[in-house]
Amino acid sequence: MSQPLKVALIGANGQLGSDIVSHFLPQCDRYQLTALTRADIDIRQADIVDQVLTTQKFDVVINSAAYVRVDDCEQEVDTAFNVNAIGALNVARACRDINALCVYISTDYVFRGDRPSPYTESDMPNPINIYGTSKLTGEYLVQQTTTRSLILRISSVFGKAGASGKGGNFVETMIKKAKAGDPLKVVNDIFMSPTYTYDVARLLDALLQAGATGIIHGANSGSCSWHEFASAALSLANIQHPIAAIPASDFPTKATRPMNSALISNQLPKITDFQMRSWQEALAAYIQAR
Ligand SMILES: NC(=O)c1ccc[n+]([C@@H]2O[C@H](COP(=O)([O-])OP(=O)(O)OC[C@H]3O[C@@H](n4cnc5c(N)ncnc54)[C@H](OP(=O)(O)O)[C@@H]3O)[C@@H](O)[C@H]2O)c1
Repeated sequence: MSQPLKVALIGANGQLGSDIVSHFLPQCDRYQLTALTRADIDIRQADIVDQVLTTQKFDVVINSAAYVRVDDCEQEVDTAFNVNAIGALNVARACRDINALCVYISTDYVFRGDRPSPYTESDMPNPINIYGTSKLTGEYLVQQTTTRSLILRISSVFGKAGASGKGGNFVETMIKKAKAGDPLKVVNDIFMSPTYTYDVARLLDALLQAGATGIIHGANSGSCSWHEFASAALSLANIQHPIAAIPASDFPTKATRPMNSALISNQLPKITDFQMRSWQEALAAYIQAR
């Protein structure tokens, strides 16, 4: 029997990180997981990263840590780049030194979003906000530093833990407001691929088993507007509450959002039989499990 893969996970407390822990930790025959929170490793500090990662012989390091507050990134540019770009570089250097696969979790926001069709892995990124720019810089730094990397782009995630950086997730916010009887207005002209972190954890497992490298899009399949997503969430949760559809121009934010950042993968079918289910199925599973 082969040895379990030694995997370090950075960002273990996060929305995605928590689901990676839940999926990988019990599988002791296949994975030996070291779950690292920000208290264990601050990726902005190269010496700490080096100390934590190079003293053990990890086969894989998953970097799920990020500064994810998209609007705050516009002002807090230093923090965005220190975590999402320099942090990614620090992790990639340590991976190179121990010959570990460096897995960097990235985002649909690397794309401009000015076309109607979904983005594939071969489309050229061209971000329109600081968050997307810092994450794309992270991707470049990882690729430039180590030849053994996997960049997994996901989008608009929802998971049991809720994004710690965002204080919950969109689905929970909608349900909470609807239950409180608050008026709801949601944009209906921004499109994306909602993605369940539970599914991303399983996808990562399949990708590691397949020895995948390069850039891969790992969103749930299909796409919708935020209004459609919110309506589906309330309907699945059996909550009757009106949601007004508004254009993005009526909901100004500090950071400009891509109008269509839906992701699709040309690579996945070439690598693994694992398929990401539709966002509707994933949302139904989430609502049932919450
Ligand atoms: N949320 C989305 O909609 C979305 C969409 C596309 C891509 N992504 C990507 O998916 C990944 C996971 O996001 P998420 O939604 O799970 O976000 P999250 O819940 O905010 O998790 C991010 C984690 O990173 C940790 N972290 C922040 N700064 C750190 C630092 N300097 N050193 C070490 N750890 C640090 C946070 O720790 P604390 O909890 O202690 O702050 C948190 O546990 C990120 O790479 C993100 O860019 C997210």
